[in-house]
Amino acid sequence: MNKVLLLVKKSWQFLCHPSAKLSAGLLLIVGFIAALVLHGTYSATMEYTSTLEFCSSCHTNDVVPEYQESVHFSNASGVQADCASCHLPKEFVPKMTRKIQASREVFAHFTGKVDTPEKFNAHRREMAEREWARMEANDSQECRNCHTQESMELSEQSLLAVKNHTAAEKNGETCIQCHKGIAHKLPDMTGVPGW
Ligand code: HEC
Ligand code: HEC
Ligand code: HEC
Ligand code: HEC
Repeated sequence: MNKVLLLVKKSWQFLCHPSAKLSAGLLLIVGFIAALVLHGTYSATMEYTSTLEFCSSCHTNDVVPEYQESVHFSNASGVQADCASCHLPKEFVPKMTRKIQASREVFAHFTGKVDTPEKFNAHRREMAEREWARMEANDSQECRNCHTQESMELSEQSLLAVKNHTAAEKNGETCIQCHKGIAHKLPDMTGVPGW
C-alpha cells in the first residue's frame, strides 16, 4: 500500500514539478486524452458511414427497395449482407481508399447527378462497370468474406452450380464474373460477355 502511495506521490510531484518535466508530463496526458477522443470520433464516423441507414439516406429511391426484395436482405438463415459488406472492403488500405473515393458520391449527390430514377438508370451501367472491375480485381474478396468454396456443401447444390464452381476453381474465374445482379437490379446488359 505504501508503495502505491509513494508512486502516486512521485507521479504527482513529477507532473507538478515546476520545471521542463511539468510540460512534458502534461503534454503526455493531454496528448493521450486527445488521442482517445480523436480515436473515438474516428471509429464512430467509420462505423456510422458503413451502416445501411447511412447508405439509405441517399440510395432510398434507387437500389434500396430492390435490395430489400433480395435474398441478401432476408433469407431462411437470417444472415444479412448489408451494403457495406459487399461494397466496402474490410482491409484497412482498400477500405480507406474506397471511403475517399466516396467523396465523388457526395459531390455527385449535391450536383444532382442521379437524383431521379431516369438519371440513375441512365448512369447505372457505368456505375455497375466500376463495381465489377473493382470486384474482379480483388477476386471478389467481399463475396468470399461470407461464401467460401471450402464451406460450400456441393451435395446440396444444383448440378449446374457444382459444374460451374468446379470449373471456376480450375479456370481461375471469380464469383462476380458469373453472379452479377445478386442484390439489386442489373443495368442494361447489352454487350456484356455472357449476358
Ligand atoms: C451523400 C449521398 C450518398 C450516400 C450517403 C451514399 N451514396 Fe452511394 N452514390 C451516391 C451518388 C450520387 C452516386 C453516383 C456517383 C457517380 O456516379 O459519380 C453513388 C454511387 C454509388 C455506387 C457506384 C460506385 C461507382 O463507382 O460508381 C455504389 C456501389 C454506392 N454508391 C454504394 C454506396 C454505399 C454502400 C453507401 C453506404 C456505405 C453509399 N453508397 C452512400 C450517393 C451517396
Ligand atoms: C455478409 C455475408 C454475405 C456477403 C458479403 C455475400 N453474400 Fe451471398 N449470400 C449470403 C447469404 C446469407 C445468402 C442466403 C443463403 C440462403 O439461401 O439462405 C446468400 C446467397 C447468395 C447466392 C444464392 C442465392 C440467390 O438466389 O441469389 C448467391 C449466388 C450469392 N449469395 C452470391 C454472392 C456474391 C457474388 C457476393 C459478392 C458480390 C455475395 N454473395 C456476398 C451472404 C453473403
Ligand atoms: C463459372 C461461373 C460461376 C462462378 C465463377 C461462380 N459461380 Fe456460383 N453459381 C454458378 C451457377 C451457374 C449457379 C447455379 C445457378 C442456378 O442454379 O440458378 C451458381 C450457384 C451459386 C450459389 C447458389 C447455390 C445453391 O444451389 O443454392 C451460390 C451461393 C454461389 N453460386 C456462390 C458463388 C461464389 C461465392 C462464387 C465465388 C467463390 C461463385 N459462386 C462462383 C456459376 C458460377
Ligand atoms: C450481396 C452483395 C451486394 C449487396 C448486399 C449490395 N450490393 Fe450494390 N452492387 C453489388 C454488385 C455485384 C454490383 C455491380 C452491379 C451488379 O452486378 O448488380 C453493385 C452495384 C451497385 C451500385 C451501382 C449501380 C448498379 O445498380 O449497378 C450501387 C449504387 C449500389 N450497388 C449500391 C448498393 C447499396 C446502397 C446497397 C445497400 C442498400 C447495396 N448496393 C447492396 C453487390 C451488392
